[in-house]
Amino acid sequence: VVLDDAAAVAALAADAIEAVVRRRAADNTSAVLGLATGSTPLATYEELIRRAQDGRGPSYAGVETFNLDEYVGLPDGHEQAYLATIRREFTDAVGIPPERVHGPDPTEATLPDAGERYEAAIERAGGIDVQLLGIGSDGHLAFNEPGSSLASLTRIKTLTATTRRDNARFFGSPDAVPHHVLTQGLGTISRAGHLLLLATGEGKAAAVAEAVEGPVSASCPASVLQHHRHVSVLLDEAAASRL
Ligand code: GLP
Repeated sequence: VVLDDAAAVAALAADAIEAVVRRRAADNTSAVLGLATGSTPLATYEELIRRAQDGRGPSYAGVETFNLDEYVGLPDGHEQAYLATIRREFTDAVGIPPERVHGPDPTEATLPDAGERYEAAIERAGGIDVQLLGIGSDGHLAFNEPGSSLASLTRIKTLTATTRRDNARFFGSPDAVPHHVLTQGLGTISRAGHLLLLATGEGKAAAVAEAVEGPVSASCPASVLQHHRHVSVLLDEAAASRL
């Protein structure tokens, strides 16, 4: 779906998320949202918060959320940890209780099992209804860098120099960006019921074109979406400019 601008992308993404939350509440079940960090989904979170605060949004009390990924090796309480980020940018403001907000656990002592534990937690929640996704300029999804198996599950990955450079803006310098992360795999992401990929701006145009129109290949991890039965790709004009 090619829209005029980033605000239109955010509004449509917010509609899709609210629809799931309302549908699950009508069934007396809990919506399970897959959340992404990074700059792209921020406008969607802001839109959802605005609607919730105006009284136009659904109740989020029963909602459960799972983040895509997490940095490994940040000191406790670091503000760039993705679990802290998602609480600050979204879940606290719409009233999702912190104990229902999950992310891969980067605690060093239990790191070897962190992937399996996260997969089990997602399964216990009944799987993810709708997964928000951004895309890296190198075509990565979550932190699945080029070369990631299309069937991969949650595990430790090493970031590429490109991604560490891209994310340096959150840390002040590229050297301060962790080298290691925990990330849902492409197989994990593929199990969600609905994938909602958002991309805005010229900087994402090449990655979007490769993901949507290129071959399905581990060289462009986001191309795995082509195999999913329910994907929506919401783009502004700039991100769609190479299609
Ligand atoms: C990060 C995140 C991804 C995100 C991507 C794009 O590396 N781990 O989940 O989609 O970067 O980020 P942005 O939306 O800030 O461009």
